[in-house]
Amino acid sequence: MNSSISTEWWRSAVIYQIYPRSFADANGDGLGDLPGITSRLAELQSLGVDAIWLSPFMTSPQKDAGYDVADYCDVDPIFGTLDDFDAMTSQAHAYGIRVIVDLVPNHSSDAHPWFQAALAAEPGSPERARYMFRDGKGENGDIEPNNWQSVFGGPAWTRTTNPDGSPGQWYLHIFDSSQPDFDWANEEVREMFRGVLRFWLDRGVDGFRVDVAHGMIKADGLPDYTPPAEGGSMGGTTSLGLEPGIDDFSNDEDGGAPYWGQEGVHDIYRDWHLLLEEYEGDRVLCAEAWVDPLSKMAKWVRPDEMQQAFNFPYLETPWEASALRSVIDESLEAFGAVGAPSTWVLSNHDVVRHASRLALTAENPQGHGIGPKSPGQPIRETGLRRARAASALMLALPGGAYLYQGEELGLPEVIDLPDSARQDPTWFRTNGERYGRDGCRVPIPWEAGAPAYGFNTTGAAWLPQPGDWDGYARDAQVDVEGSTLELYREALRLRREHTLGLGSVSWLEGFPEPVVAFSNGPVTVIANTGDTPLALPAEFEGADLLLTSADFDGASVGGDATIWVRTR
Ligand code: NOJ
Repeated sequence: MNSSISTEWWRSAVIYQIYPRSFADANGDGLGDLPGITSRLAELQSLGVDAIWLSPFMTSPQKDAGYDVADYCDVDPIFGTLDDFDAMTSQAHAYGIRVIVDLVPNHSSDAHPWFQAALAAEPGSPERARYMFRDGKGENGDIEPNNWQSVFGGPAWTRTTNPDGSPGQWYLHIFDSSQPDFDWANEEVREMFRGVLRFWLDRGVDGFRVDVAHGMIKADGLPDYTPPAEGGSMGGTTSLGLEPGIDDFSNDEDGGAPYWGQEGVHDIYRDWHLLLEEYEGDRVLCAEAWVDPLSKMAKWVRPDEMQQAFNFPYLETPWEASALRSVIDESLEAFGAVGAPSTWVLSNHDVVRHASRLALTAENPQGHGIGPKSPGQPIRETGLRRARAASALMLALPGGAYLYQGEELGLPEVIDLPDSARQDPTWFRTNGERYGRDGCRVPIPWEAGAPAYGFNTTGAAWLPQPGDWDGYARDAQVDVEGSTLELYREALRLRREHTLGLGSVSWLEGFPEPVVAFSNGPVTVIANTGDTPLALPAEFEGADLLLTSADFDGASVGGDATIWVRTR
């Protein structure tokens, strides 16, 4: 392993998210695959990441890009085979890169044998008891059992049809109708997932990213719930605004939504924590838990639960110094209070890429995406400049950091995908009202001028790549001074050299309002979120420059730029 740090590796790790269908495509069918990943691991080692997290590659009808799993213990043929997975894992480990896989326990695919058996079985049967089947309301049972709405739009209930063709019970799906929710009150479900964890742990995975880790337990009686009015995601650090209509990040005081953040989920993670402890070598659980405030999210990473939780409040913080200082303080305090490292993240497969998001001038609730008709279109240069500055700031913070494939290339969101190419269920369930998440999922460019930019050799791509991506390709950036790729490589190298991931933040005073300035061990970080240059205080003149996100003249930090200098 390339971690020379003697403590648990995940406390300071940089974890790179691979979205398998868009990373590298070895068989040329236009959809990335596991052999493709194996073929590009050397590039990730050269980037300097500690681990990779793979979004789902298990057997799935792909109604939600693999987050609809039909067999938790096999690889979907579109991605390869279990042998391909083993080959990838052993190659990653040989490079000193740990491997985290996605676990989707809140719901299965409707093609899962258990759900098919449930449909074929009677109401009240043990088969139906693995999911959330309920009778409808009203005289003919034709009203949904409650008023919950799907995260992707429309009702969270779908009615079944009985074998004789008559309308039957309803089942709950917090996401797409192809993703029925399990009933986690059922011991059979718990036991099945213990088996799934063991299956992948036995194959050598280093951990799991747990999908919808705040959703598996629903409040008793499934009470109706009306979320507060839509909150914008970009306006502040507490108004997360994920999928308005269903995601309410209310705090403990008003209880919040009856399907999010219920106390019962913690029993599941305590159970899994013990299971992971049976295995050697610091295996991890990372929560995708969209809960607010951070002090509540920190419950997911208490010492006997999970190791990490994605810091979504950080992701949703605008590029604004005071907001950034607050969220960093809150994060360090909340996670620190339970003995966990904070994590930091700016992009993933569900949000507008930060090279575009940070230049949006209109509200953009998470999951809505952006398209040609969205208001507040980002200016590409502004977005990239801010993204580089934001990444340079993030990578100097103590704790774990998550990167999303392509951000190291400075990739923007693809805004002008043709409607006919869009595949996100959000797009379909809202009749095109929300563009959804396809724009951040376009296959990434490796080689300028090559078919599909080197994603494969055939030129096929499941989502069309823009025609102007040559400059973003990895081979156009590697070893090129000032490129975004080299900025990331250097930041990761320095982060490791100075063990910044295990350090601490000491705020520096005396800077103007738009500036975030702190030291972490031997490194002083100065981020200027404003648009006018910041003249460096005399004490920093001639300081030893370690890293800069933009041209630096030695005397002032430009607008939307971050520098690292050696602390005196
Ligand atoms: C969160 C995943 O990140 C997202 O892509 C997916 O659609 C939902 N969970 C449902 O599994």
